[in-house]
Amino acid sequence: MEVVPLTDADEVGRIAADVVETVVRRRADAVLGLATGSTPLPTYRELVRRHRASVGPSYARVRCFNLDEYVGLPAGHPQSYRATIARELTDDLGIAPDRVHGPDPAPDGLADAGARYEAALESAGGVDVQLLGIGSDGHLAFNEPGSSLGSLTRIKTLTEQTRRDNARFFGSLDDVPRHVLTQGLGTILRARHLLLIATGAGKAEALAAAVEGPVSASCPASVLQHHPHVTVLVDEAAAGRLERRDHYREVYDAKPAWQGL
Ligand code: GLP
Repeated sequence: MEVVPLTDADEVGRIAADVVETVVRRRADAVLGLATGSTPLPTYRELVRRHRASVGPSYARVRCFNLDEYVGLPAGHPQSYRATIARELTDDLGIAPDRVHGPDPAPDGLADAGARYEAALESAGGVDVQLLGIGSDGHLAFNEPGSSLGSLTRIKTLTEQTRRDNARFFGSLDDVPRHVLTQGLGTILRARHLLLIATGAGKAEALAAAVEGPVSASCPASVLQHHPHVTVLVDEAAAGRLERRDHYREVYDAKPAWQGL
């Protein structure tokens, strides 16, 4: 795991955008794994800015897979993750809607929605780079504490804390769905490169537990310690509880240019 301590959310966004662009330049039909929440927004804005300025790569052949989706919202609801990803990123990058996939929350297909999504991921050849945020309780995608470290895409029930965290996107707490479809921790581990981004003091504790604590289902993001290629981009506030912060800085400053992230 490579932890990269950066200054602020904008710098995190720029470096994360560099990583995504590098993947797409290397492979025009790259498979991008996309996350929602507030944390990836500076990254998405930076990718869109560069694309509009014609300094970014072409995304015409890129395919995208979303991490998760709410269950119970009407189709096309603006807070559905499908709509959010289209609005915040893929429409502006010129990625056709049929190249952007997400778990299917249609009520009559929930029993096999997870298996269908796993099959779609497999037939796309897997994810080249997966963007990830972290929940304040250490959740990854919507894998709440207690999720099996080997889990696959399935329906889950949100904790009260996550529903409260996400209530800002809805009219009230009561409007936040209780159920979701989410890639499992085992699904996420299959992506070839995991790019975790964490910004703000509210993530400091969860991030420290994920990166420096024991691997445990009580902190789902700690499962990243098992993956061979994880990059953690973190701003000063979110790095506040990392014991080895100075060492991460030292490693990053001494990193050979050829190595990349
Ligand atoms: C949501 C999403 C996660 C996201 C997390 C943190 O519940 N399902 O993918 O990483 O919460 O969100 P934010 O970046 O807004 O803090």
